Amino acid sequence: MADLTTKFMGLPLRNPIIAGSSGLSNSVEKVIELENSGVGAVVLKSLFEEQIKSQVNSAIQQGENSYAYPEAQDYIGNYTRENEVSEYLEMIRQCKARVRIPVIASINCISLSDWVYFASKIQEAGADAIELNVFVLPSDPKRTGEQNEQVYLDVALAIVKSVTIPVSLKISYYFSGLSKTALKLSWTGIKGMVLFNRFYSPDIDIEKFEIVSSNVLSTPEEISLSLRWVAMLSDRLHCDIVASTGVHDGAGVIKQLLAGAKAVQITSCLYRNGLGTISEMLTFIEKWMDRHSYKTTGEFIGKLSFKEAENPAAYERVQFMKYFAGIE
Ligand SMILES: Cc1cc2nc3c(=O)[nH]c(=O)nc-3n(C[C@H](O)[C@H](O)[C@H](O)COP(=O)(O)O)c2cc1C
Repeated sequence: MADLTTKFMGLPLRNPIIAGSSGLSNSVEKVIELENSGVGAVVLKSLFEEQIKSQVNSAIQQGENSYAYPEAQDYIGNYTRENEVSEYLEMIRQCKARVRIPVIASINCISLSDWVYFASKIQEAGADAIELNVFVLPSDPKRTGEQNEQVYLDVALAIVKSVTIPVSLKISYYFSGLSKTALKLSWTGIKGMVLFNRFYSPDIDIEKFEIVSSNVLSTPEEISLSLRWVAMLSDRLHCDIVASTGVHDGAGVIKQLLAGAKAVQITSCLYRNGLGTISEMLTFIEKWMDRHSYKTTGEFIGKLSFKEAENPAAYERVQFMKYFAGIE
């Protein structure tokens, strides 16, 4: 019988499928449901920097015992929920009391500021790890790429210093020097990197003249972007990689593990196909492992990484050439 266990950031996982941060992990009941459906770990819905900062500010203004919790909105309007800091900490405590799988808390950060203090509160509440969902949209023409990258470095360094539990960084691919930046970030002491986050994208309704949200959920075709970078970076970084975006089935999980990911996060496929998809994926992986005579995930993780693949140049190829594509 295939052994699906793996280790991510030192955390033992019963299998490599992690439920990514989303509205599907914003309550204790939902986390229990995810555990019962078979995932190896859960990343909780993100606590947003604005929410934490508002608590810090009101603590300063009103004294420690009379916090006010203004409402804050998630970046995906359809799935919003007011998520107060104390509620979040209580959710972590409850999850830890009621599930056995690792519970990873998530903070969405756009800058470095007083909120860093709350990472230790999250640790105290019992979270097994913290995932930092950092994003600076490089839209300000007055800021250089280096200044934007510094935010990621500052946030990672500050949080790593303030907690002892493993910290992972969830990033996007919006870097001009992605490999170098990822490498620098992996030197900060983080234990994991999530490649990649996927963002809310605007669209325009041409009849109503309104900006609307589009493509909230990923499609299976989107796996190729993270697959390339997982393969290119998995031998180079000083931390584990967890793949995210576009994994919709068992084959997707296996591809990312072959590329070198220690684990895989899934979100959109759970929204699209329900939690039953997790056991289907696990069965698929087990059968695939049996067919290829793999007893443990360690035997094939990284087998097709950039360093290990027979034809690594295929990961670097970005232009179509007639003879290569064979399409006319
Ligand atoms: C409805 C929804 C809510 C999400 N909320 C969060 C969030 O709070 N924090 C976060 O880091 N990522 C959030 N994400 C991003 C997912 O965790 C994941 O990175 C992204 O959807 C790509 O993975 P997928 O292709 O498996 O969906 C959200 C995604 C969706 C669809």
